[in-house]
Amino acid sequence: RPRIFSGMQPTADSLHLGNYLGALTRWVALQDTHEAIYCVVDLHALTVGPDPAALRERCRRTAAQYLAAGIDPQRSTLFLQSHVPEHAELAWVMSCLTGFGEASRMTQFKDKSAKQGAEASSVGLFTYPMLMAADILLYGTDAVPVGEDQRQHLELTRNLAQRFNSRYGQTFTVPEPHILKETAKIFDLQDPTSKMSKTSSSPGGIVELLDDPKVTAKKIRSAVTDTGREVRYDPVDKPGISNLLAIHSALSGRTVPELEADYAGRGYGDLKKELAEVVTDALGPVRERTLELLADPATLDDILAEGARRARGLAAETLARVYERVGLLAAR
Ligand code: TYM
Repeated sequence: RPRIFSGMQPTADSLHLGNYLGALTRWVALQDTHEAIYCVVDLHALTVGPDPAALRERCRRTAAQYLAAGIDPQRSTLFLQSHVPEHAELAWVMSCLTGFGEASRMTQFKDKSAKQGAEASSVGLFTYPMLMAADILLYGTDAVPVGEDQRQHLELTRNLAQRFNSRYGQTFTVPEPHILKETAKIFDLQDPTSKMSKTSSSPGGIVELLDDPKVTAKKIRSAVTDTGREVRYDPVDKPGISNLLAIHSALSGRTVPELEADYAGRGYGDLKKELAEVVTDALGPVRERTLELLADPATLDDILAEGARRARGLAAETLARVYERVGLLAAR
């Protein structure tokens, strides 16, 4: 079975609908056909200097939401990045393989450092994509299910794998991005031209998995819509309605043309009212299961320990081969 790897940062108390539709629901589906490895990338979260107590809490919460959404620890490997030291070790090798200019062209780094100012941005933010490449390459990953915003990082990962292979001999599998067009970019409900994001300025624009269902329904009903009255998928002229249709389709399993036909002659209000139900029906059970899992942290920690043990077996083999290839003498 082909192997997939993916991860999310534990940088918020709750994942949001973009994480859920762009990544997590795909991860769950891919377990049937792939050998899956899913990681909570806690080392990546350090790039923004989180409060230690909040970070600890958010690591468990993120793992709990993976499980609640349907990641099955019997079939898939689930672990925290910092429990497998090979990630940080391979990241160093990747950093030495990456050009300074190449890293400077990463748009996520450019955006984030422009927002914070160069002085306030850490070097970790700059080398973030090399740690991400290490995450993926340690496991011989064939495909990486993510949202559109990760495409450039994956392109860099592919370049680094190819560069290493041509310099030191075939070592890494060159991974393919697995990005589904329909859900690759879910937009902010209050600003449907920006992606839904943990750092959005409008809390009303982000649907959180752990929101109370009443809050979720209200956010959907208050979503910004477009001028006109026709429910039609048209991302250029109707970004708000198109986003709501994309969310509806992803959760209800009905196609966009079906939904358009269904809402013909009805207004935006009907769409929002029914979508609020579709979303709360989908997320309600995920929220409840997450809260149950969080009430039993010992069981959660056992699952993460078992996942780390399995991941470490694979990662250690890859790192040893890499160290040998680049000319580091084996320790004895
Ligand atoms: P992160 O934590 O920002 O996001 C987690 C996943 O959610 C997707 N996503 C979205 N998809 C659709 N619409 C949105 N509005 C939206 N917002 C977020 C992201 O594309 C991602 O798939 N760098 C990664 C974490 C990472 C990683 C890895 C991923 C570290 N190492 C190795 C894959 C493989 C990140 O910051 O994701």
